[in-house]
Amino acid sequence: MSEHPEHVSRRIQELRETIELHNYHYYARDTPTIPDAEYDKLFRELQELEQRYPHLVTADSPTQRIGAVPIKEFAHIVHRTPMLSLGNAFEAEEVKAFDRRVRQGLGVDSVEYAVEPKFDGLAVSLCYENGIFRTGATRGDGYVGEDVTLNLRTVQSIPLQLKLDSHAAQGPSFLEVRGEVLMLKADFEKLNRRQREKKEREFINPRNAAAGSLRQLDPGITARRRLKFFAYGIGVCEGGNVPRDKQNHLLDYLESLRFPVARERNTVTGVAELLEYHREVRAMRENLPYDIDGTVYKVNDLAQQQKLGFVSRAPRYALAHKFPAQEAITELVGIDIQVGRTGAMTPVARLKPVFVGGATVTNATLHNEDEIRRKDVMIGDWVTVRRAGDVIPEVVAVQKENRPPQVMPFVMPDHCPVCGSKAVRLPGEALTRCTGGLFCPAQRKQAILHFASRRAMDINGLGDRLVDQLVDSAIIRTPADLYKLGVAALAHLQRMAEKSAGNIIAAIEKSKHTTLARFIYSLGIRNVGETTARELARYFGSLDRLMEADMESLCQVPDIGPVVAESIRDFFAERHNLEVIEQLRAGGIQWKEDAGTQAKADSGFPAGAGKIFVLTGTLPHLSREDAREKIEALGGKVTGSVSKKTDYVVAGSDPGSKYDMAVELGIRILDEEGLLQLLKDSRSDSVSGKS
Ligand code: IVH
Repeated sequence: MSEHPEHVSRRIQELRETIELHNYHYYARDTPTIPDAEYDKLFRELQELEQRYPHLVTADSPTQRIGAVPIKEFAHIVHRTPMLSLGNAFEAEEVKAFDRRVRQGLGVDSVEYAVEPKFDGLAVSLCYENGIFRTGATRGDGYVGEDVTLNLRTVQSIPLQLKLDSHAAQGPSFLEVRGEVLMLKADFEKLNRRQREKKEREFINPRNAAAGSLRQLDPGITARRRLKFFAYGIGVCEGGNVPRDKQNHLLDYLESLRFPVARERNTVTGVAELLEYHREVRAMRENLPYDIDGTVYKVNDLAQQQKLGFVSRAPRYALAHKFPAQEAITELVGIDIQVGRTGAMTPVARLKPVFVGGATVTNATLHNEDEIRRKDVMIGDWVTVRRAGDVIPEVVAVQKENRPPQVMPFVMPDHCPVCGSKAVRLPGEALTRCTGGLFCPAQRKQAILHFASRRAMDINGLGDRLVDQLVDSAIIRTPADLYKLGVAALAHLQRMAEKSAGNIIAAIEKSKHTTLARFIYSLGIRNVGETTARELARYFGSLDRLMEADMESLCQVPDIGPVVAESIRDFFAERHNLEVIEQLRAGGIQWKEDAGTQAKADSGFPAGAGKIFVLTGTLPHLSREDAREKIEALGGKVTGSVSKKTDYVVAGSDPGSKYDMAVELGIRILDEEGLLQLLKDSRSDSVSGKS
């Protein structure tokens, strides 16, 4: 309309600066500074202005990050100085040797190092001419890389224009920033979820996903993959006030130009501090938002770096101290079925032993039948195995390119390999289960191990080897049999001296004094974990009350719904289970019981809903009908006669025999005021979202 072009170009410039500043806070610092909607508004305004005045569009505008068309192949870019690799170390001894070499090379007693995590992504080089991002390349062979400029432009944490000092003369006329492109773990999970939904190939790890995304010929795809960039150094640099003294000052400078740099970077002195830093980073590894595979140490003083120089293709002044690899490739020689406590039949890969994640691994979980299909795992394949931290090792992928000709498909057995019972897979479930129940030795062993585990009955020393022997030689069949064991029965087992047999008997004896919550948990009722067991113990206060509880009262327990309630009913409906419980009690297991919160309506436990009321006598204000209506409005029930199931008896004047019954059965008696209070409490409970 009446916009003056000069006015417009000022506004465009202003918008670009504001948007890039928000981009920086959002993508590089993870601290958004404005709501998304406001950002979108600015972005749209800029887009509209650029559409109306196309001659004002420049390559460094934030609107121009995406929008390039697919290309046929990548051009090559020759690095002006080669992108080298780093010497590796795994052991502390090797780090000590590195520090010794550095000190000798420099003729000093101690050296300061700039230290940071080793990003597990892809090295790239970004070239800025007069502050404008011109070209970006992969490392390639170190000398020649691929021109992935268009893809790198879509990486929001890469500045398209450097934030230089107002004195333009101070900015470098040419600056090559080097760093790593990676995918955050969270974005990787999301990407793989999408791939699964689209029934497309999943990526093995964030590194592969980042590599695949950066080397897309269509930058539109790269843009959707949400890559991140972290700077760790510079290559060629011409002009400008770039620090030339210390590595850490260089990183601070790059940060001031709005490049993301590792938050965990630091400077340390001497080898002991290097090793301490390595330990610290290793401890935070699982919690970092991106994958790392070690730490990198660089002599901090740049003049010292220069003095040390290079050996073959690696600098003498730097070292990569790597964590043991979390992935390895090995041969899958077979697939066994492991039967769990609830009968779940888990396929487990038997592997040719392989050192991964700091340990030798011979088994890895394959989760279930569908996973095997999805990953197309066959017996005889070469597979990638992953062991990260405390997680159970798993098969992540198959090396399909060189699949041996004689591989065999896996077939889920239709019978339990341990007890021969039928195996079933319910519709909608991923797991196949053995139907043998406690007839199945595998389930029995797992039930006993669970019973004895630390958070259950805590029988120290009763491990899986011992339980295997005890069950296999028919010395015990159920947890109750543990309490019939004597030293003699144990002492002649393999690897069992009299002393350790005595220790186990003592541990079994000690376990007899327990709590109701632990006892309930130790029974191994399906869907009843520690927390639920504790709630059940609190609510019912006694094992008998729990065993007798119907669906309705089970559903009154906090956080228990119909599925869990049904598992509990099913468990106590099984005669075998009742027998074992009887024997356990006879064996001397004991715990304290109390009335439970179920009976104590005044203990703050949510009241009316689902409760059973009996009315007797004449209430001062409410008619019987009024009282019934109020109770039912809150989900309570009014019945005619008092029984053990009655929760409350509401008594007015001249109550009848129902009153006496209530006293006899210990049922809570309320007057009209008490009833109204209770109903009021239930109402506020249901309003505040509690059941
Ligand atoms: S410094 C002279 N710092 O590790 C080479 N490299 O083996 C200077 N890497 O592919 C490299 N994180 O991309 C350096 N914080 C970090 C790093 C890092 C990952 C990669 C780098 C290169 C490999 C070197």
